[in-house]
Amino acid sequence: HIVRLDISRAEKVPGVVCVLTARDIPGVNDVGAIRKDESLLADEIVSFHGHMVAVVVGESLEACREAAALVEIEIDPLPMILSAREAAEKQSFHTNGHTIARGDSDAAIAKSPHRFSGELEIGGQEHFYLESQAAWAEADDAGGVRVVSSTQHPSEIQAVVSHVLHLPRHKVVVESPRMGGGFGGKETQGNGWAALVALAAVKTGRPVRVQLDRDIDMMLTGKRHPFFARYDVGFDSEGNLLAANVDLVSDGGWALDLSESICDRALFHLDNCYFVPNVRFTGRVGKTNNVSHTAFRGFGGPQGMVVIEEILDRIARTLGKTPEFIREKNFYRGTGETNTTHYGEPLDDNRVERTWAALLERSDFVARKKSIRAFNEQSAKIKRGIAITPVKFGISFTASFLNQAGALVVIYRDGSVQVNHGGTEMGQGLYTKMLGVAMRELGISADKIRVMKTVTDKVPNTSATAASSGADLNGAAVRNACETLRLRLAQIALDIWNKTAVDPESVRFEKGRVFLEESPDNYVQFATLTDEAHLRQVQLSATGFYRTPAIAYNRIAGRGKPFHYFAYGAAVTEVEVDGYSGMKRVARVDIIHDVGDSLNPGIDRGQIEGGFIQGMGWLTGEELLWDDKGRLLSHSASTYQIPSIGDAPEIFNVELLSDAAQRNV
Ligand code: HPA
Ligand code: CA
Repeated sequence: HIVRLDISRAEKVPGVVCVLTARDIPGVNDVGAIRKDESLLADEIVSFHGHMVAVVVGESLEACREAAALVEIEIDPLPMILSAREAAEKQSFHTNGHTIARGDSDAAIAKSPHRFSGELEIGGQEHFYLESQAAWAEADDAGGVRVVSSTQHPSEIQAVVSHVLHLPRHKVVVESPRMGGGFGGKETQGNGWAALVALAAVKTGRPVRVQLDRDIDMMLTGKRHPFFARYDVGFDSEGNLLAANVDLVSDGGWALDLSESICDRALFHLDNCYFVPNVRFTGRVGKTNNVSHTAFRGFGGPQGMVVIEEILDRIARTLGKTPEFIREKNFYRGTGETNTTHYGEPLDDNRVERTWAALLERSDFVARKKSIRAFNEQSAKIKRGIAITPVKFGISFTASFLNQAGALVVIYRDGSVQVNHGGTEMGQGLYTKMLGVAMRELGISADKIRVMKTVTDKVPNTSATAASSGADLNGAAVRNACETLRLRLAQIALDIWNKTAVDPESVRFEKGRVFLEESPDNYVQFATLTDEAHLRQVQLSATGFYRTPAIAYNRIAGRGKPFHYFAYGAAVTEVEVDGYSGMKRVARVDIIHDVGDSLNPGIDRGQIEGGFIQGMGWLTGEELLWDDKGRLLSHSASTYQIPSIGDAPEIFNVELLSDAAQRNV
């Protein structure tokens, strides 16, 4: 509870232009993504260690730092809750909870031949994008503001800035140049910084910029959600998992942010690749006094999967069988119920067994496991281990309406092209993939096409670049715009050739030429055709749009088809651990991953490698440590250890699943 806040000394520092507090906000003091519960500048209540109370705007960093240190604040402490477990114990929640159930799990557990229960605490994770949060703003000459933000979600930055400044959205233009990494950490966490610079720019009439130091970034922005899980399961002597009750509580931090959708995705992925006939999965977002946790690669899915993988490992140990035997035994397979998720979505094109079998063979799993056993028998100090784990991931935003995207493709008279779409580039290669889509659709080379940076005045009302959907959604929108343009151009070509009766769909666009299949030598250059189109007063720009068909989820019933399709994969990991020092080494990793019909295999391989290493960091070396007042202790690269190049597996084989074009799309 803020008892006293005095900014007068700070305001007097030379070079300081203004010091902003909650009272300076003309609109609403809120930057919440979904629920309006996230004050930009603390007013009366400081909700976590790192909640900003005042912001200094000045002409130099030194002046700002000096002044910030002179802001006086007196705080009367209130009781705090600092973990998901504590939130569960004290019944402190942001949400009422969500349950997905199938069968009578209580009865099925009671009559199972074997049972156990357990608890699991799953840690969070710092995104550690290379480029920290950054934003820049300048008031325009029409009462509006232009904001440049390191964000995965320019339309939401626009919404938040309009809310804070009390401006309609058409007065706010947000640009997202390519980011130095996001990983989910810029889906909502750019909101506050963009709103602050916009506020300061409008107040001062001068351009204002912010870029966070690494330490401040780590202390003040949300991370992967820590989860607390409790489970009761029943299984038989063969290792069939018959029933499971799992209760998840996440540490949502002080404000809701995306926590509810993240907890939902954890529930959707508690099954991973396994058919469990009777389940009751519940998830609730804990309300704590930590930083508000947020999206992070996987978006709750990995936290859910970790729980069932732990359960299956325990079943294997209990029955004295191998973990891979238990995993394989419980796979989704067949037709009907045994190939349908707990929320009722069938695995239309189930690739679990295909991926698994291919990887067992490709990694030489059985022989290596045997030789590892032999090695361990003669090595007292150093032990080796090998495991195979499968994955199934649902592709689509679980809030179905978010599955839409737009594009604007512009052709100039000289045949050069600008492609605009709503997706953001964060190093994942989206712009390169969009370039590839336009090249294929228009049949022209890369040097004739420019993918423009993402701006809200080119493509409006976009969804975040998230949910593994950036290339699917925006790629389909770009294709849609290109199709419109291609048909217009094809019509003109047919006119030139006096073949107006021919279907324009049959006109080919390849290697900068436009022609008919049967007479490839009778072509017209793409650039000639675009110039001719202009002379004939035909429009050379088009918008494109895409919405994912046939997905819907009824949250109350816990039933539906939230995902357009699933991506499958599996990894074999061999490690070596020194039993005395605890030193570890990942000796070899083999992965087969299903990316469908890849838009760009090189980029996809990079994403798979990076995803594995980031997950390995989460589950082995990285640890977020907070003290008993909720202060983050591990807030720099020296105390928070992400994997380095030396931690990369010595042998790292990544393969894309072959013959994997998605049949139901
Ligand atoms: N998955 C991943 N990211 C997201 C989602 C989702 O369902 N919703 C919003 N961001
Ligand atoms: Ca939260």
